[in-house]
Amino acid sequence: MADVCPAQVQAQNEHSRASASLKDRPRFAGDLCDINIAKDRSMMTKRDKRSVGGPSYIIQGGQQGADRLKVMANATWPTTEPFLREAGLGSGSKCLDVGCGSGDITSRLFYLVGPAGEVFGVDFDQRIVEIARQSVAQLGLRVSFRALDVEKEELDGGPYDFVYARFLLSHLKTPEAAIRRMHAVLRPGGTLAVEDVDFRGHFCHPESPAFQRYVELYTQAGVKRGVDPLIGPRLPELLEREGFTDVRLRVVLPTFRSGDGKQMALLTLGAIQESVVATGLADLAEVRRLLVELQRFTQDERTIMSLPRIFQVWGVAAL
Ligand SMILES: C[S@@+](CC[C@H](N)C(=O)[O-])C[C@H]1O[C@@H](n2cnc3c(N)ncnc32)[C@H](O)[C@@H]1O
Repeated sequence: MADVCPAQVQAQNEHSRASASLKDRPRFAGDLCDINIAKDRSMMTKRDKRSVGGPSYIIQGGQQGADRLKVMANATWPTTEPFLREAGLGSGSKCLDVGCGSGDITSRLFYLVGPAGEVFGVDFDQRIVEIARQSVAQLGLRVSFRALDVEKEELDGGPYDFVYARFLLSHLKTPEAAIRRMHAVLRPGGTLAVEDVDFRGHFCHPESPAFQRYVELYTQAGVKRGVDPLIGPRLPELLEREGFTDVRLRVVLPTFRSGDGKQMALLTLGAIQESVVATGLADLAEVRRLLVELQRFTQDERTIMSLPRIFQVWGVAAL
């Protein structure tokens, strides 16, 4: 198997916007050398085992989850940065990132708000919060993180000028409650900005049964856990129902022939394999076949793959 595993050299600079080549990347759950679920779990640290996520979160957390989020941050920052600027995040803002994951995006918020601003991140995965803390400490950034489950606990530390939640609401059983909690910590006239997926919005060229099956498995695993991987188009009305005004919308479909973005389907299938098998949607043999096929498709320089359709929605908190 070693010949099909991307080599482990060195992760790219935290804030480089350039895409890393495969050989410059650490190993991920999606790498074929990590394909065996039992082996994966036995190799995980105790802390990582506690970071598999809550009952509704289908993606691997902990260090493996953080590695995947770093690649996703690089792939999607070119569409996230203009969205954040248009939604009004700027110099001096006090900002909260809810479901911040590895903090790769949270620390980029720090550069947007500048030294006069303040940035905080919360996530329910204790291990990923530690990773986020370490990475901002290494970069010398003034960003604070804390572990918090937004489905169970109130947010605090407000009032904030800007609250942001990226790829969080599609993982929650009660996204309305989370939006309400985010509203509660915004100052009157402050902004809530959310980005989330409509998972059926993927495409690839040429047609790939493995890619289609990956999209289907991700969607069904989410639905089985009681969350909505198609939440994107519902976001404007969800914000309006919770009292936000002047709600606006952009839709993007990041699409790749190479680079970090093209790795995302493979990495994500690797990161949901445990949930897919646990929910009985596929057996390990099928997941193994799909990973092999998807890796072949990803490595073919002629193929094109998109991420899910991403809804970028923002609104103003009640005055
Ligand atoms: C897909 S990741 C996105 C991370 C980050 N926002 C980004 O865009 O890179 C979703 C994150 O939400 C976190 N999460 C899921 N359910 C949560 C909850 N109930 N409360 C807080 N965080 C949660 C997960 O641990 C994970 O880090």
